[in-house]
Amino acid sequence: MREWFGRQVRSGYERLLRREIEGVPTHVAVIQDGNRRYARQNGADAPDGHRAGAETTEQVLEWCQDLGVEELTLYAFSTENFDRPDEELEPLFDLLEGKLREFADADRVHENGVCIRALGDVERLPERVQDAVAYAEERTEGYDRFVLNVALAYGGRAELLSAARSVLSDVDAGALSPGEIDVETVEERLYERPVRDVDLIIRTGGDERTSNFLPWYANGNEAAVFFCAPYWPEFRQVDFLRAIRTYEHRQESWRTARARRALALLRATGSAELDEARNVLERFRDALPSSEREQLDPEEFDADERAAD
Ligand code: FPP
Ligand code: MG
Repeated sequence: MREWFGRQVRSGYERLLRREIEGVPTHVAVIQDGNRRYARQNGADAPDGHRAGAETTEQVLEWCQDLGVEELTLYAFSTENFDRPDEELEPLFDLLEGKLREFADADRVHENGVCIRALGDVERLPERVQDAVAYAEERTEGYDRFVLNVALAYGGRAELLSAARSVLSDVDAGALSPGEIDVETVEERLYERPVRDVDLIIRTGGDERTSNFLPWYANGNEAAVFFCAPYWPEFRQVDFLRAIRTYEHRQESWRTARARRALALLRATGSAELDEARNVLERFRDALPSSEREQLDPEEFDADERAAD
């Protein structure tokens, strides 16, 4: 009964949130954290936690598509994750392999034109995972209606370091001069690129950091960040919709700030330039042909008139 009541409240809240949502982020990135803590809490082991997490991953993909998000980037395996014990890693690699193949074969993926791409130092992964990556990428490479980036063996610092090394070796070889290095020079050397910058980063599991994730594409603090407490396997649609609303609020305050700045600029420039124009007109209005002179609004351009008001 309590569970039923909870579900009713949640679905009412979901409907409410969905009605409120007006602007949807184009690119959402997710740090799926808390799988092991979820498992521990339920007396299970880490691989069970990851398996439960993978179910949430599938749902989030659907929620994104239903809402009109166009690109989703999932942090599935970081460079730091290589340090975990083999008893956890081997089943996790099995899961990643299985899920990649499952996604690549899923009707939903083909019906919705989902292009799957891996982001990271994939060669560090076991061959079976690399094969699954190649399979998923090949099966979906022709699609462009939705992009699903799976960050695997990914680390933001490692990514920037390898780009820096590649730039330096070109400079060393004389193929590039330091003055020529620009945004494109670096972007060309990053891992497989997301199609666009990230608009919203969601992190589950309660930790409030972005853990070496997409430092280039999140572009400092351009992306809105939504931290939430539920472990990844417990992340529900209401949490997702609340994250989307965070993005919207940020967009709203960003738009308001831009409009205010523009208005301030307009006022400052406007008054200085208008004063200048008034002075010029006052001095030289006799130089205008009489037909044009008659069009002048004395209220606006005649300092004496204005002073007399
Ligand atoms: C972090 O939680 C989660 C992972 C390291 C694995 C995430 C992978 C999946 C959910 C599988 C998804 C599959 C695809 C193909 C994208 P944690 O292990 O750090 O848990 P903790 O924070 O509780 O220790
Ligand atoms: Mg963790």
